[in-house]
Amino acid sequence: MSEAVAGRPGRLRAGVVGFGWAGRQHMDAYALHPDVDLVAIAGLEDGPRSELGELYGLTEAGQFRGYQEMIDAAGLDVISIATPTALHAPVALAALEAGVHVLSEKPLAESVERASAMVAAAKAHDRVLDVSFNHRRRGDVTMLKQVIDEGLLGTIYYAKAGWLRRSGIPGLGTWFTQKSLAGGGPLMDIGVHMLDMVLHLMGEPTAEAVSAATYAEFGPRGRGGSSGARVGGRADGSGAYEVEDLSTAFVRLSGGATLLLEASWASYIERDQLYVVLYGSEGGAVLGSPEVWNLPHLTVLTELKGFPAELTPALPADGHHRAVVDEFVAKVQAPSWTDQHGEHLLTRSTIVEAAYRSAEQHREVVIDPV
Ligand SMILES: NC(=O)c1ccc[n+]([C@@H]2O[C@H](COP(=O)([O-])OP(=O)(O)OC[C@H]3O[C@@H](n4cnc5c(N)ncnc54)[C@H](O)[C@@H]3O)[C@@H](O)[C@H]2O)c1
Repeated sequence: MSEAVAGRPGRLRAGVVGFGWAGRQHMDAYALHPDVDLVAIAGLEDGPRSELGELYGLTEAGQFRGYQEMIDAAGLDVISIATPTALHAPVALAALEAGVHVLSEKPLAESVERASAMVAAAKAHDRVLDVSFNHRRRGDVTMLKQVIDEGLLGTIYYAKAGWLRRSGIPGLGTWFTQKSLAGGGPLMDIGVHMLDMVLHLMGEPTAEAVSAATYAEFGPRGRGGSSGARVGGRADGSGAYEVEDLSTAFVRLSGGATLLLEASWASYIERDQLYVVLYGSEGGAVLGSPEVWNLPHLTVLTELKGFPAELTPALPADGHHRAVVDEFVAKVQAPSWTDQHGEHLLTRSTIVEAAYRSAEQHREVVIDPV
């Protein structure tokens, strides 16, 4: 075990599970970190394994097929999990039990039960558990958080957030569209990024109730697939389409605020949209815009000396996965991990699960206070 595991500065030994787009982001970020050695990778596909092994200078001893072999043999301090969602919990539990700090891809897990088991294991073994919410590291989100923390919006009482695609079902018929592996469709996949952004911006309120609906108008008919070529080990695409392709949810948050959240992989819209709109007692904010898809863009609406004002703050650079990994490593290097067991992440799982239940039961689902 390296010195850093005891909370002292030292080099960290990192391993990554998963050779797809997500796994590669983590590998790159570890490889670039001055205090980390990327020592092992694991994944099922032989071609990408040797290609990535060569890219990162790993001998065969650092290349694994299964995650358990890697955890048992590689002497890791930290692990990143970039597998199909249903594997996040099994990999995390195995790693935490072995005393390894965990950075999971989003979402934490496909159910509250499994997400809670991950948090409980992080607590029991006192290790860091974090999730890769890279979109919260966008420059516009970073700036908006500062604007909110400075009090420019006052009390935020209503929020709208959405990520809607014209034709963007990732891997039609692969694990992404199979319920047992993905847990859900766009709400679980991209809606959770928007949910994370809003909860982060609003100071981590909890949820009291959710009313939601889901639809599957494109996927089951083989329409709406993403045109982008997917690298990494996907299934052969022969699986069923078992998840929604559009979801809409109304969430009652603690303190009386509400959130309208929409997520879609495919729908008849002019162009893709990613947005957050916040309504506050002293000001409002619009992040994103249908005209500038996915480019950082922030407008703050307020009053200056009694005049209505529209501000477009200068934005810092986007953070991406590199910022996520840097922050995770900093948490691991900190002297205490007591507050880093991922408890606040459970709000996301709770809201997503309640939304699916609400959609299934056609009624509002009340969330029990923790
Ligand atoms: N944060 C983001 O922006 C972002 C973007 C894309 C995907 N993701 C998330 O990343 C994760 C992976 O997505 P992807 O698109 O890279 O998937 P992918 O299908 O391209 O890759 C999945 C990888 O997991 C590996 N794997 C599966 N079972 C395994 C096992 N038992 N042991 C070892 N490896 C195993 C596969 O071999 C493959 O290499 C998902 O949770 C997804 O939600 C996040």
